[in-house]
Amino acid sequence: MSEASSNDMIHAGSVEHFLSAAFLRRLESPLEQSTGLPNAAYIDPLFLKLENERVFHRSWILAGFQHEIPHPGDVVPVTVADQPLILVRDEQGDIRAFHNVCRHRGARLVDKPCRHAKLLRCPYHHWTYNLDGHIRNRPHFYGPDQHDTPTERETRIRLSEVRCGVWHDIVCVNLDGRATTFEEYIRPAADRLAHYDFSALRYAGSLDFELKCNWKLIHENFIEPYHVFAVHPGLLKFGPMSQRRASEFENACLWNDYEFPAPEEGRGMGLPHYPGLDERHQRLAMWFHLFPTLSFEIFPDQFAIIQLTPVTAECTHERIHIYLVGDAATAPEYEQARTVVFDTWRNLNAEDVEVVESLQAGRHSPGFDGGVLSPYWDGATRQFARLIANAMTQTNN
Ligand code: FES
Ligand SMILES: [Fe+2]
Repeated sequence: MSEASSNDMIHAGSVEHFLSAAFLRRLESPLEQSTGLPNAAYIDPLFLKLENERVFHRSWILAGFQHEIPHPGDVVPVTVADQPLILVRDEQGDIRAFHNVCRHRGARLVDKPCRHAKLLRCPYHHWTYNLDGHIRNRPHFYGPDQHDTPTERETRIRLSEVRCGVWHDIVCVNLDGRATTFEEYIRPAADRLAHYDFSALRYAGSLDFELKCNWKLIHENFIEPYHVFAVHPGLLKFGPMSQRRASEFENACLWNDYEFPAPEEGRGMGLPHYPGLDERHQRLAMWFHLFPTLSFEIFPDQFAIIQLTPVTAECTHERIHIYLVGDAATAPEYEQARTVVFDTWRNLNAEDVEVVESLQAGRHSPGFDGGVLSPYWDGATRQFARLIANAMTQTNN
């Protein structure tokens, strides 16, 4: 029996314990009789461990960004679902992902970003690898001064490669290599964003937050606009409830949009827009969640990615990456307008942090377990719960 299938058997009982047959039936009920995930899904460390194996390892997960490794030979170490990886731009300019572990004795290959590397060299016994992962040189491998130097065409061993997909600046990996194609994963969002010239975007910076809540609450809150009138009163002039509607979804992609009556500083005013945007898209805000962990939002003058890293079942690191159009990302004359964009994100997110941390506390209450959903607004909340339940109850066969 493979290790994966024996793990599946060990954990099957745990999954049934967390997601009972009655709960799974309720998930399929009409929305007003349906429910969100049970409390344990947000607070139990074992549930997060199972998510690591059954959700994160089997899905496309944001790992890094093209701009971090702009030139051949640039390498950045990253951690995805607790797995140390490296993202490498190879000699052809393509991005590859490898497990950050030497094939000899398992030492960590790379511990900090590097530029223009010709080779990857393990610090332990100096085995070297080409940027495509093939072994290049094993010093003293056959004895003192008896080196192993395979030619280009010999393929003795290579680093363990991880499936990798690139969309604009975003680099995703799929650890188990068995997810749907990356193109299929990204397509529902990419099709809806065809009006935007992403080549005009430049990276402007990021904001970091540490939240005392489970990672799922942040995405669930991100995709539903129901709370806007109560939690973000400052946003109501820009995006009134009359313009709001329930989020839509197609399999692993959930999305929403609204037309805003007039741009404001920080959203659409004072910074250049994507080139060639039509009238409607000059007044449109759109946001997407690509299950399980990639969320992003787009305005006529910006693109923001919400990257979540679970720290524990009840603590999540959130990094908001902000892109602006052309010179707006770095030029001094836009500094003041840029500051407004960052402040707007920081202030809006602070309002959400307060709410999601309160939701986390609610998951410890015996007076709550899954909740009662709005038949209009909570379709996306239920879809997110279904995606979790589907992934968690699927064995690896
Ligand atoms: S562990 Fe890497 S060369 Fe020995
Ligand atoms: Fe919010």
